[in-house]
Amino acid sequence: MTTPSHAARPRPGGSPALQAWVDEIADRARSRLGTGRVADYIPALADQDPERFGLAVCTNDGQLYTAGDAEMPFSIQSLSKVLLLSLALRTHGDALWQRVGLNPSGMPFNSLMQLETERGKPRNPFINAGAIVVADHLVGAFATPSKHLRDIARTLSGNAGILIDRQVLASEWQHRARNAAAAYLMKAFGNLDNEVDEVLEAYFACCALRMSCADLAIALNYLAADGRALTTGERFVPPAMAQRINALMFTSGMYDAAGDFAYRVGLPAKSGVGGGIVAIVPGRLSICAWSPALDASGNSVAAQYALERISEGLGRWSQEAGRLAPASVS
Ligand code: DON
Repeated sequence: MTTPSHAARPRPGGSPALQAWVDEIADRARSRLGTGRVADYIPALADQDPERFGLAVCTNDGQLYTAGDAEMPFSIQSLSKVLLLSLALRTHGDALWQRVGLNPSGMPFNSLMQLETERGKPRNPFINAGAIVVADHLVGAFATPSKHLRDIARTLSGNAGILIDRQVLASEWQHRARNAAAAYLMKAFGNLDNEVDEVLEAYFACCALRMSCADLAIALNYLAADGRALTTGERFVPPAMAQRINALMFTSGMYDAAGDFAYRVGLPAKSGVGGGIVAIVPGRLSICAWSPALDASGNSVAAQYALERISEGLGRWSQEAGRLAPASVS
């Protein structure tokens, strides 16, 4: 891909009606603040302000609509699993599926139960064990996989200032017991090529990337656009790969609540314990909502609410002259 300096980042603006709609959804989502709990199993995340809320919607024709704390960087955590998977599929293709499955786990994202009975092959690339296997592929392919992923995030978002948060990385490393257990179990089953510590460090560093809602909605727009990156105009992944990543997000992106979220929102989505959720409307737009307080499954309460409202409104939108416009706001 081209370097970040060549990237053109969409700026907020476009349809005033759509901006008003995004503003209204953000106002309504703020009524959900106060429910849920900030993740504290990674101590560096525990002091996030639960009152923060951001929303960014990026259309495939390059219009960006933002509300609230949409430009504030936060810890992307498992949202990195989408970028990791995209990169691993680019470099290894379908061979990846010999080592990680394609089915929902129906279990918490850090559960070890299936890993033992299923002989070290994680159910899907969006649970922690699955992303660790994906990271193992990248450790084999790149000298510094997390910096490579950071640079891809910079290029895809058009933001050269994206950083890995060293404090979050150190905190995850210090409290790595469960992820280390998964990695050693997979190593014992022959499903990890590289040293456990090296793979875990790469995985944690990717989780510790800090990006804003606007960065993420822009960066992951390729999933709404048949794999084409908005900032560079280049194809980041082939169309069929974008479609398959969306399918995996739909079935496994929201942890053990994937079915519930699919029923309520009906969009491919991926969640992270930093409170971010990215959702994709294929062929039309990418969305990122963020608020740090999580429900029992680890999904942001206010972000889910905002995505539910956006999904409801999508059906009433009319598409005129290549521009999305909401018909009315309830
Ligand atoms: O490994 C962890 O537990 C965190 N770095 C990421 C967890 C997360 O966001 C949810 N995982 N699928």
